[in-house]
Amino acid sequence: MSRIVYVNGTYLPEAEATVSVFDRGFLMADGVYEVTSVLDGKLIDFDGHAARLTRSLAELDMTPPMARDELLAVHRELVARNAITDGMIYLQITRGNPGDRSFTFPDPETTPCTVVMFTQSKPGLADDPAAKAGIRVISIPDQRWGRRDIKTVQLLYPSMGKMAALAAGVDDAWFVEDGKVTEGTSNNAYIVKNRKIITRELSSDILHGITRAAVLRFAAEAQMEVEERSFTIDEAKGADEAFITSASAFVTPVVEVDGAAVGDGKPGQVATRLREIYLEESRKAAI
Ligand code: PDD
Repeated sequence: MSRIVYVNGTYLPEAEATVSVFDRGFLMADGVYEVTSVLDGKLIDFDGHAARLTRSLAELDMTPPMARDELLAVHRELVARNAITDGMIYLQITRGNPGDRSFTFPDPETTPCTVVMFTQSKPGLADDPAAKAGIRVISIPDQRWGRRDIKTVQLLYPSMGKMAALAAGVDDAWFVEDGKVTEGTSNNAYIVKNRKIITRELSSDILHGITRAAVLRFAAEAQMEVEERSFTIDEAKGADEAFITSASAFVTPVVEVDGAAVGDGKPGQVATRLREIYLEESRKAAI
C-alpha cells in the first residue's frame, strides 16, 4: 500500500508528493522539523512537539502555517489514512519556494512555507530489542552549528556521526565539545552515578528534547535525584549506567562508551525503570 503524504494542505500518494527544486529546504536546509511517535494509534507528547515547533519557527522568523488544533488534525488524519498503530509522524516546515536561489529570506507574504508530513510505520516500536540489550556508543567531536536548540533539518553532521559509529561497529555516537558530552546524534545523553541521573543543562548547545523534559519530570515524581550539568566521557565510562532519550528511542540504555563497559555492561535499573514509567505514563496521556 502506498503511503499517503501531506503536502501543503493536500493528501497525496507518496509518488505524487513533491516539492520544488527551488524550495529553501532543499537549497539551504532552511527548515525545521519534528518527529512525534505513535503508540497504539495515538500521539505521544504531541503538545510538547507542537510547542517546540512554534519556538523553532519563531527563532528563524518563520510564521507558523497552522495552529495547534489543525496540526493535531493533520497528524491524526495521517495516522488514520495510513493505518498506523506504532511508528512516527515526521513533520517538516521550510521557508518555501521563492522561485529562484538567493541567500536572502523571501517575503513570507508572497512565499508561503512548505509543509510536509509523512508517517513511518514501526510495528512494535516500544519493544525494540535495543532497549533490552542496550546500545554501544563512540564519542566524536561536536562540529555542528551553535544553535542546536532549533530543530533544523541540517542533519549532515549527525548523519556523518551515525555513519562513523556504524563504521566502528557500534550503534551511535555522542558528541563532545570542550571536553564535555553535548548529546547523541539524534538523542539526549545521560549518565547515572550513585543513583543520581546526570544530563547536560538546557542551552543552545543541545536540542531541548521533549522526551528529556517528560523523563526528568517523571524521575522527579518518582523521587529520583536529577542533576542538570555536563559530564565528560571519562565520567560516562566510570558511571553506573548511561542512557539516551528521544521520541523514537524513548529511554534506551547505553552499555558501552568508547569500548568501555558502563557499569556491569548491562542495561541499568534506573534506565529500565525510567523506560517503563515513560512508556506507561505517555501511553496514558497520548492523544
Ligand atoms: N531526534 N537531540 C537531538 C540532536 C535530536 O535530533 C533529538 C531528536 C533529540 C531528542 O529530542 P526528542 O526527545 O524531542 O525527540 C535530542 C529525532 C527523534 C530525529 O531526528 O529523528
